[in-house]
Amino acid sequence: MLKEKVLEAINGQINAEYYSAYLYLSMSAYFYGKGLPGFANWMFIQYQEELTHGNKFFKYVVDRGSQVSLKAIGQMPTEFGGIVDVWEKALAHEQLVTSKINHIMDVALEASDHATISFLKWFVDEQVEEEANVQEILDTLKLIDGQGNGIFMLDREMRQRVFVDTTAAAV
Ligand SMILES: [Fe+2]
Repeated sequence: MLKEKVLEAINGQINAEYYSAYLYLSMSAYFYGKGLPGFANWMFIQYQEELTHGNKFFKYVVDRGSQVSLKAIGQMPTEFGGIVDVWEKALAHEQLVTSKINHIMDVALEASDHATISFLKWFVDEQVEEEANVQEILDTLKLIDGQGNGIFMLDREMRQRVFVDTTAAAV
């Protein structure tokens, strides 16, 4: 069984992962509405990825013989101030998630919960990747500087992204 503080932190993270999923689904809907199916596709795949993160935490709590407690997710933003604003919000959100993962790691270290420390390492590495991916898109958007041709090309490139369950091999 997980110690109470560790369990509380992980149950909070289950919520944060499903919140992330829902946020990216809302961003996907926004891009579809703006006629950017590639951006929308990227966000839809990100939504699927976040679901697998939530599921991975869920399964971990069950495997440790503890009780999952699901919390409310709430209203998502549905309007954004343009393409760059969406990606800036996505980056800020991933930075927030990183700080949450680091917090759970601190709690697990404090509790000398070696299994949780080991489990969390996957997420620590994953967050480096998540932030880098969004930062790269933001850097490209900066270069494009709002020009239609560039946006069109980037949107087409993002259409190529396919869903891969990266948690599958690790479970
Ligand atoms: Fe995540």
